[in-house]
Amino acid sequence: MSTQMWNEILEQPAVLESCGRVNEKVLREIVTEVSRRNIQSVIIAARGTSDHAAVYGKYVIEYELGIPVSLAAPSIFTIYKKKLKLPGTLVIGISQSGKAADVLEVLKNAGESGALTVSITNDPNSPLATGAMYHLYCNAGLEKSVAATKTFTAEIFLIAQLVAEWGQNSLFKKELGQLPQNLFKGLDTDAIKMKMERYRFIQECFVLARGINYAVALESALKIQESTYVRAKAYATSDFYHGPFAMIEKDMPVIVYAPDGPSFVDVMQMIKRLKENLVDLIVVSNVNEAIELGNCNFKIPQTSNDLLSPFYNAVIAQMLACELAVIKGLNPDQPRGLKKVTITL
Ligand code: AGP
Repeated sequence: MSTQMWNEILEQPAVLESCGRVNEKVLREIVTEVSRRNIQSVIIAARGTSDHAAVYGKYVIEYELGIPVSLAAPSIFTIYKKKLKLPGTLVIGISQSGKAADVLEVLKNAGESGALTVSITNDPNSPLATGAMYHLYCNAGLEKSVAATKTFTAEIFLIAQLVAEWGQNSLFKKELGQLPQNLFKGLDTDAIKMKMERYRFIQECFVLARGINYAVALESALKIQESTYVRAKAYATSDFYHGPFAMIEKDMPVIVYAPDGPSFVDVMQMIKRLKENLVDLIVVSNVNEAIELGNCNFKIPQTSNDLLSPFYNAVIAQMLACELAVIKGLNPDQPRGLKKVTITL
């Protein structure tokens, strides 16, 4: 079965290349304004997949710039009608459609309260694109599948580019410039299809990662939930020890994102503990030690920087969900009860 979701996943190298190119000027303008205002804190507002891009944003900004980032509670503005004191704050609203009413409300209030506002959307004419002081454009083309794929990687790519520009980190800029051409390096799509067969009948699973890949664990679980209806739940490995571990039962596989880097030792400990408990493990990694312990495994390219592995892991997460849906006889483009654009307040 050919799906829009699969086709859109395959578009990602081209999407990243073009979204990097079209935003060069505005990225520089934002950084000039950030310096002029001496920005000392960041708040990000988003929902669904865009909210997972926000989690990536929190890690990449705090890691690279040492500036604290919090994720907005939109109901403070939309339901409780409160104001925040925001001078010296950058508020970023992320929405693929650019129509998220609550995110718009956060940006509007933030601008009135003295914040610098930036939106990231895939529609330059949307309310969020036109309502923020600056707009970063995903330029991903129309995304038809309900499951967001290319817009997610475009969002995190733009955040990473903003951070590289803000920190004047020329190595990170170079690595991001090379990412589109490397994104599918070594990827064996037939193997992904074949390997997912084993999981045709699963009803539940867990998805684990640590550090910057926590964003991918969240996104991976969401992709599985909406495309396959499998009850997938994401945790940081550190949280999984504190109770959720007890939920593990037979026929409940655990997907672990375990790239090389500062979080590897911690994630590897969890992999070993799961193995001792005879858990069926799906390991996504570029380290043989981890890959060898997987009942099923997916290899990603080596990365020179921990901030890059989420891109490779996201592609595997999307393909894995899409294939599992097809194997289960479902159409991931049209999940039951969902629409492409969801407006919440
Ligand atoms: C993504 O796969 C989901 N269908 C959903 O989370 C989606 O990303 C979200 O509803 C989009 O909202 P946005 O247009 O405000 O980003």
